[in-house]
Amino acid sequence: MNPLLDRLHPYPFERLRALTVDITPNPAMRPISLGIGEPRHPTPDFIKQALAENLSGLARYPATAGEPTLRRAIANWVLRRYRVTLDPSRQVLPVNGSREALFALAQTVVDPTRPHATVVCPNPFYQIYEGAALLAGAKTVYVNSDPARNFALDWDSVPTRVWEATQLLYVCSPGNPTGAVMPLDEWRMLFELSDRHGFVIASDECYSEIYFRDEPPLGSLDAARQLGRSEFRNLVAFTSLSKRSNVPGLRSGFVAGDATILKAFLLYRTYHGSAMNPAVQQASAVAWGDETHVVANRQQYRDKFAQVTPIVAAALHVALPDAGFYLWARVPGHDDIGYARGLLAQYNVTVLPGSLLARESHGINPGSGRIRLALVAEAAECIEAARRIASYTHSLA
Ligand SMILES: Cc1ncc(COP(=O)(O)O)c(C=O)c1O
Repeated sequence: MNPLLDRLHPYPFERLRALTVDITPNPAMRPISLGIGEPRHPTPDFIKQALAENLSGLARYPATAGEPTLRRAIANWVLRRYRVTLDPSRQVLPVNGSREALFALAQTVVDPTRPHATVVCPNPFYQIYEGAALLAGAKTVYVNSDPARNFALDWDSVPTRVWEATQLLYVCSPGNPTGAVMPLDEWRMLFELSDRHGFVIASDECYSEIYFRDEPPLGSLDAARQLGRSEFRNLVAFTSLSKRSNVPGLRSGFVAGDATILKAFLLYRTYHGSAMNPAVQQASAVAWGDETHVVANRQQYRDKFAQVTPIVAAALHVALPDAGFYLWARVPGHDDIGYARGLLAQYNVTVLPGSLLARESHGINPGSGRIRLALVAEAAECIEAARRIASYTHSLA
């Protein structure tokens, strides 16, 4: 067996199951889960139709680079969304959801034979970054989010000797679970660090289309363009249809950015066998070409958050995030696991304890004392869950 497998941590939901196996949820209430961040709005019919109409493609092996029509559709979307012009033949690659690509990029860019090979991750974070780093033979360093600055990451906490050993930096904007969006100044600083130390930036932007402010979240490609980095040196952006178009089962997204890195990534992916199903390619091209369903989906989240946030905020310390579909709430007493267990036992609502989404770094676990609420179910169910959360919290006072 690959000994690096032993370094992987159990997934947060696995840990949550183990932490709650002894609990019998209150049978008088029907179960509601705000635990898993899986989109649950319906998939638009035109995407399903495009999938069904393109099954003839199954008779051929698809190319790992994807069909030119899909790459063009992606480049056109990037142009409309970010005013960034990409060369679809060099600067875009389709991927089977951003998860596999976030993992695979580390296997492509990390050189574990260099001393102290390091991958830097946000904290809290999407656990795939950590597993990708560990299986690539690197060690991980975590950068805590700061609740006093709208959960911005504390980049100053990273010593120069760590940046010197860093080969890959994961960032997530809009962030999971905090919803925080990185501003241009932060990008400028990260690009400068990347130029100085030569590391690659993997920018996870899978929540970019679900936002609550008027301005859409700044993307890394747009930040690079604004800062005159037209070749996107050492930058790879990851975008996904899963949340934008409610197709988590389709497994479709793309990476875009530095053509030199994407060339190596394509080579890696060819051996790994990561070509996208041809019917999925056609459906994806159609999905990237339409914004009407995205606007409607965003409005559905906005309406839901407008109804649910005040109910939760009357009981817990929480604010409407910049973007994403999570509330990241502080619980009384700082014991997020105890809070989640009690809520499940008494009110049959599942939430994710924040400490399971983060690691201890600089003496603190920045997720502890918080819970993540995924508002993915329909509004009525989320409102019901919020009311139960309020009742439970008041009962603790
Ligand atoms: C932060 C983050 N990145 C990436 C993903 C992966 O999404 P997908 O593989 O569906 O594109 C998720 C899914 O929940 C996520 O929360």
